[in-house]
Amino acid sequence: MKGQRPALRLRPMRVEDIPAVVQLDRLSFATPWSTSAFRHEVLGSNHSHMLILERAGTSQRSSPHTAASAGAREQRGWRAWWRGRSQPENPTGYGGLWVIEDEGHISTLAVQPNERGQRLGELILTALIQRALAAGAGYIVLEVRVSNHVAQALYRKYDFTIAERRPRYYADSEDAFTMRLDLGDDTSIHFQKRRAALWQHFATRQGLQDAYTESPWPEACAAPG
Ligand SMILES: CC(C)(COP(=O)(O)OP(=O)(O)OC[C@H]1O[C@@H](n2cnc3c(N)ncnc32)[C@H](O)[C@@H]1OP(=O)(O)O)[C@@H](O)C(=O)NCCC(=O)NCCS
Repeated sequence: MKGQRPALRLRPMRVEDIPAVVQLDRLSFATPWSTSAFRHEVLGSNHSHMLILERAGTSQRSSPHTAASAGAREQRGWRAWWRGRSQPENPTGYGGLWVIEDEGHISTLAVQPNERGQRLGELILTALIQRALAAGAGYIVLEVRVSNHVAQALYRKYDFTIAERRPRYYADSEDAFTMRLDLGDDTSIHFQKRRAALWQHFATRQGLQDAYTESPWPEACAAPG
């Protein structure tokens, strides 16, 4: 529809996303991850479920058949399509989850600074929780800086509670809180209702597409087990 923002899409992170993710990570964290840390999460880990939130249609990934009709135009179409595939636009946000046996662990989560405050952090968090449930996690933990009141408020909104304080957890010596969410039956049902309402909110306003939470884990990422 004219004037409507491009649809939001959740999908697994791919290796070609990493340069843009590293940039956003540097904007978002005092002690950002290295490129090789993200490469390990995407390619080398059996437990990692990395997520990208992007606006569909901003990364020029239309089929070459829609880009050119025949002959030389078709050749150019394929080249443009391939460039689009290998150079994705900046993601709107990203998140990371590890699932080992019945423990889910949210490893990272960030939204572009100019896109914050629109419930997109909430969208990513709920996708990660849903993915953890689908992978069989019985509880989820995460670490958050004691000074990061915004992130703590987001996690409290989804019923995480502070389990412990870890002194000098970060490389710059700041303490962390470990926050925990137990995924018992009642919590899971309550969570599913809230997630459904949030999904509906985005689906009606922005055409949410979800290729992350329930889909079989793709070949692009290390297969679990
Ligand atoms: C934390 C972060 C992901 C939140 O993303 P966001 O899209 O801005 O947050 P949302 O709009 O989804 O807000 C969801 C909830 O977070 C909390 N929140 C968001 N912005 C807030 C603010 N400025 N002040 C206080 N609470 C805030 C609120 O509880 C909010 O729910 P509400 O609007 O019903 O009150 C984002 O601020 C970010 O990328 N920060 C830098 C990286 C980071 O700190 N990541 C967390 C690592 S543990």
